[in-house]
Amino acid sequence: MVVDMGKRILLLGAPGAGKGTQSKRLAETYDIDHVTTGDALRANKDMETEYGTPRSFMEKGELVPDAVVNEIVEAALEDADGYVLDGYPRNLSQAEYLSEIADLDAVLSLEVAESELVERLTGRRVCSECGTNFHVKFNQPEEAGVCDECGGELIQRDDDTEETVRERLSVFEENTEPVIEHYRDEGVLVEIDGEQTPDEVFDDIVDSLDDA
Ligand code: AP5
Ligand code: MG
Ligand code: ZN
Repeated sequence: MVVDMGKRILLLGAPGAGKGTQSKRLAETYDIDHVTTGDALRANKDMETEYGTPRSFMEKGELVPDAVVNEIVEAALEDADGYVLDGYPRNLSQAEYLSEIADLDAVLSLEVAESELVERLTGRRVCSECGTNFHVKFNQPEEAGVCDECGGELIQRDDDTEETVRERLSVFEENTEPVIEHYRDEGVLVEIDGEQTPDEVFDDIVDSLDDA
């Protein structure tokens, strides 16, 4: 099939399911924007809002208030031709908001068991310059602590400690599982086995997009 330049893809999944890893590849392959609330919030951690800074929520593993996040997404989607949306919506109220501002071509969910998620997150290392993800065991850089893509320093995210990871997983279960349920009920959800290698996961995603 001819690649549709304007694809609008929603990629759902638990913390550590591989949303960022796969979104980066999708954005490159389909020449679309990678719209990710997590990265946008990390870049504006100390921004003052009427609710407090994003940092005050993120370092505890809690959700940043909907009003702040909705505004970020609306602005990003307005400017985008096609996009892959990663990390949003995270509760039913955000899903409702999204349905008013966007028409999606595909809704995918990366399925990974909880025990695997904890290991992925506590072992993740992120490039401080370009944001590329690595893992101390599953996705090692050629040289420890150094980004393969740009030579930047690899760091651990503040919220990737075991305690905060557990909290993020429980916030996911309570708030975001119902969002996945909602798209399943609508009959639009495509579930992808996220426990394969990153290449295999990507192939399954591309297959499902080409079938859509
Ligand atoms: P966010 O940045 O979105 O974090 P998250 O949802 O917890 O997801 P992650 O980024 O941790 O995981 P990922 O699925 O992207 O996995 P990755 O590809 O990195 O959000 C952070 C915080 O911001 C939230 O807690 C909240 O406070 C706030 N926030 C964000 N959006 C919000 C919203 N909409 N509303 C309110 N608040 C919001 O992979 C993980 C690791 O596994 C990596 O090391 C990777 O190398 C490895 N890996 C990836 N794929 C594989 C594979 N197939 N096999 C083995 N290892 C793999
Ligand atoms: Mg991510
Ligand atoms: Zn880098």
